[in-house]
Amino acid sequence: MAYVAVDLGGTRIRAARCDAAGRVQARTEQPTRPEEGVEAVIARIAGAIWAVWPAEEPVEAIGVGAPGPLDPRTGVVLTAPNLGWENVPLAERLQERFGVPCFVGNDANLAALGEWQYGAGRGHEHLVYLTISTGIGGGVITHGVLLEGAHGLGAELGHIVVEAREGPRCGCGQRGCLEALASGTAIARMAREALARGEPFPGSDRDPESITAADVAGAAARGDPVATAIMERAAFYLGVGIATFWHIFNPTLVILGGGVMKAGDWFLERIRAHARERAMTPAYITPIVRAALGEDVGLLGALAYARWRLASILPSS
Ligand code: BGC
Ligand code: NA
Ligand code: ZN
Repeated sequence: MAYVAVDLGGTRIRAARCDAAGRVQARTEQPTRPEEGVEAVIARIAGAIWAVWPAEEPVEAIGVGAPGPLDPRTGVVLTAPNLGWENVPLAERLQERFGVPCFVGNDANLAALGEWQYGAGRGHEHLVYLTISTGIGGGVITHGVLLEGAHGLGAELGHIVVEAREGPRCGCGQRGCLEALASGTAIARMAREALARGEPFPGSDRDPESITAADVAGAAARGDPVATAIMERAAFYLGVGIATFWHIFNPTLVILGGGVMKAGDWFLERIRAHARERAMTPAYITPIVRAALGEDVGLLGALAYARWRLASILPSS
């Protein structure tokens, strides 16, 4: 039996045909181009699904990971600032087109599930996953169950407020969310602000808009002081957030994924140090490790989610 998994991100749509064991049998990728509007993006998602659809084998279900709080029962994306979406009935639209069950879940919740079943989190009944990318997403496994909350909106860990009064504006409209202080977007913004203050940031002659978090991480790795200070600030807030998650969820493992974690081990070490400093007692402290599934975390998470939702609809044999 085949499954189709989709990872909908702000820059890329990835789709794969997988078997239940997590083996990817075919994959494809498209740019998202959210600026072209919801319909264009849905058409590209459908195109990506067709591109991996099996010729003969039946498809059990489609699993889709999407950014933003969404209703997992109806598959409506409620708000996704990084896509510019409001109330998009994604599951219904895909189900109409493909005629198989389609389960849409929060991208980071699904990634947590993927790491738990296939990656760094195997064997952990209590874990916290964070993706640090354009936004910051979170997923929590507690007592061996994905924490979704009453309306499926739980585990928006990137939007805990860590700097309530003076914090920068977040994409969600609030101030001082973890995402506004430590995401890839925030890191790039801090570099632009440093440039605007006339601080000697490497490549100061460049168009400030072209600076990415990867540029900042690269400059920090080469010892640039301005870039190092920016990465240190991001690591500080990630540590603050992780200590908070330790206190709330008491996990045995914290897994960090997303593009920003491509920064070297020094960055991970700084996050660990800041988190440890804030644990109420050492009993809270857990390993903080990198995600193991790399680029495929979203796809394998979507597969794990589709299987999980299907099993809770159909009685298991
Ligand atoms: C959204 C989350 C999402 C994360 C990563 C955040 O801005 O609010 O729902 O998981 O970005 O895409
Ligand atoms: Na989440
Ligand atoms: Zn926010």
